[in-house]
Amino acid sequence: MPTTQVYPDPIAASNSLAVEVAALIRSRGPNDRPIVFGLATGTTPLPFYAELERLYRDENLSFKNVITFNLDEYLGLGPQDPQSYWHFMHESLFDHIDVPSAHINIPNGMTAPDDLERYCRSYEQAIQEVGGIDLQILGIGSNGHIGFNEPGAARDAHTLVVDLAEKTRTDNAAFFDADEEVPTRAITMGCGTILSAKRIALMAWGERKAAIVREALHGPVTNDLPASFLQEHPDTTFYLDTAAASLLP
Ligand code: GLP
Repeated sequence: MPTTQVYPDPIAASNSLAVEVAALIRSRGPNDRPIVFGLATGTTPLPFYAELERLYRDENLSFKNVITFNLDEYLGLGPQDPQSYWHFMHESLFDHIDVPSAHINIPNGMTAPDDLERYCRSYEQAIQEVGGIDLQILGIGSNGHIGFNEPGAARDAHTLVVDLAEKTRTDNAAFFDADEEVPTRAITMGCGTILSAKRIALMAWGERKAAIVREALHGPVTNDLPASFLQEHPDTTFYLDTAAASLLP
């Protein structure tokens, strides 16, 4: 069962998670195996990424021995697209810290259609080759998705191409000029990929997420709500603000 940590606001919660991340990074020497983080997009991790940037700038936290794998990317969007997760991650984090660009892995949304199967396998393999994900950062979609694993997702799936739920496309439309511009498909780590991370930290803020957080933690484990699979992960913590935790028993 996941543990739950509740903080007065998203900044306090994000700072606490950043302290854990900094300790993990500092626990490794420069010649040790790099620490591997799985990273998420969305508005939720922004204060967390801002704190990592501050730790780099003000407290000498180096990311040189860090490898990152992002959860997902829209199909059809490339690095130059301002709405791509590649762009989002560079703007919100990677451009401001010293992680080597060769250590950054984000699914390539411009993969040719006939190469997608091979590409997804190679993304998965790259994660295995560096020893798996030490800490996976997650947000949660308002329909309970993790990464882009929408309701109905298989528990054991590895990196794959998925159709986005209408709810997800509406939720994310604010980042696009028009609703029709929101891509309909994405590449995402599967639930199986996510669950094989050694440790998982899920962040959720605000009243908007309170009901889905309660269902994910206390409802049945079901592929109707992919985040409920986290109930079966041995080392998961939900970082919540008081509003997101307000419906917990
Ligand atoms: C996006 C991402 C998820 C993210 C979720 C929540 O679609 N694929 O990884 O957790 O939606 O977004 P937000 O943090 O903006 O609420």
